[in-house]
Amino acid sequence: MIKIGKYTEKAHHISFIRDEARMFVTDAYQETNIQVTQKGCVELLVGMGKEKVTLRNVKELLACAAKKMKVHQITSYQVDMEPLIRETELSSICLAVQGIYEGIYEVLLPGETEMELPEITITGIKEFQLSEADAFCKEGIVLGEAQTWARHMVNAPGNLLHPMDFARTILEKMEETSVSCELLVYSKLNAMGMHALTSVGKSSENPPCLLIMSYKGNPGGEVTGLVGKGVTCDTGGYCLKPANSMMGIKGDMAGGAAVAATMYALAKQKVAVNVVTAIPMCENRISTSSLVPGDVISSYSGKKIEICNTDAEGRLILADAVSYLVKKEKVDRILDIATLTGAVVNMFGFSTAGTLGNDENFYQEFERGFEKSGERYWRLPIYEEQEKMIESEIADIKNMGRDYCGTITAGLFIRAFTEEKPWIHVDIAGTAWVDCPLYAGQPKGATGAAVSTLYYMMKEKE
Ligand code: BES
Ligand code: ZN
Ligand code: ZN
Repeated sequence: MIKIGKYTEKAHHISFIRDEARMFVTDAYQETNIQVTQKGCVELLVGMGKEKVTLRNVKELLACAAKKMKVHQITSYQVDMEPLIRETELSSICLAVQGIYEGIYEVLLPGETEMELPEITITGIKEFQLSEADAFCKEGIVLGEAQTWARHMVNAPGNLLHPMDFARTILEKMEETSVSCELLVYSKLNAMGMHALTSVGKSSENPPCLLIMSYKGNPGGEVTGLVGKGVTCDTGGYCLKPANSMMGIKGDMAGGAAVAATMYALAKQKVAVNVVTAIPMCENRISTSSLVPGDVISSYSGKKIEICNTDAEGRLILADAVSYLVKKEKVDRILDIATLTGAVVNMFGFSTAGTLGNDENFYQEFERGFEKSGERYWRLPIYEEQEKMIESEIADIKNMGRDYCGTITAGLFIRAFTEEKPWIHVDIAGTAWVDCPLYAGQPKGATGAAVSTLYYMMKEKE
């Protein structure tokens, strides 16, 4: 339970102080000071560093501090936000709460019960700002829960979360909200001609599916389409991944999890926007029904696709999902998000996601979204010569360029199915999963990347 409240001396607390040391950088924990006050309470002093504190820093500071309290098994404490709000703005309360959730996160296997949250009181709020502060606190709780849920789904082992389990997990969660859901199962997808999705999915005996969700918070207004890659296990197929690249392949549905968690947060917060999401879910494995390089498949759009590499499966299933939202749901603009390319990891490592976009207004909303969330994104260019790299001689398009600018060609492949709608492409292959955490709020494994950015982006539309 996290709430706004009054300061009392008789409680453990976290205080932020101006200090030379920036304690929110890596290895911060060793430098944070614990002291015991005269009242017998533990006070955790956290240095803010010398430079101006940003919203991103607030999230980090709180993640670091909450983690420290957890290590000391302190489950009830207050946090004096006054210095942080003075440095930033009142909305930093929302980021602080998200930071707490990030910091205390623990991996949970499907079926295990969630740990109990600490009792936290946020203090240092001026009387006249109490109700606004309370709203930011509640928003932070919703985002923290949403991101935690996304992390759990992404961390779920591939053998315990098959495509249909993934769908069911989301359907159950959405019962708490006003989101309407429709699950298109394998037979239906086949009948509809969604062969870009089914050609990948039929590589496994665990069938593929497409989860469509709709949230109408602003009836009559523009509709944004969100598409997230939901490959619950990506072995690479016949273009098999090397053994040492296989850890983490269960996390290839992080885009789908981010979209589901965003939808959950938007609906919980009753944000006045319209969103329709499509999450294509499948496995990419080896069997007699798997694709092999050289195959040509049809797709929901009618375009024929030449398969050059079976490990480039994400763009195939995203293509059908994007076509579905454009053709059937008539969305006005579309964003796709996926753990799509190793190339983006080579470029930006694990802190920054790569993006593409063809519409300045839409992209600006995305930018304002990530300014608020504190996550890092970097936009790549789009040129005609890159488009040529995925032209096929025997089909309309091929699923791989050459070995260069792989993040861009992957995005351009998806753009070919957007029918010229305003579009943003987000490649979170580096940021969705980390083996060596970079920040206090980043655990080993799933990070819950992009959930709050997508949420804030949609709030910009409100
Ligand atoms: N899911 C992977 C991308 C990935 C790589 C995610 C590393 C997380 C960490 C994707 O399906 C893939 O294998 N992409 C290939 C595409 C290539 C064959 C054109 C890649 O990037 O190697
Ligand atoms: Zn792959
Ligand atoms: Zn993949």
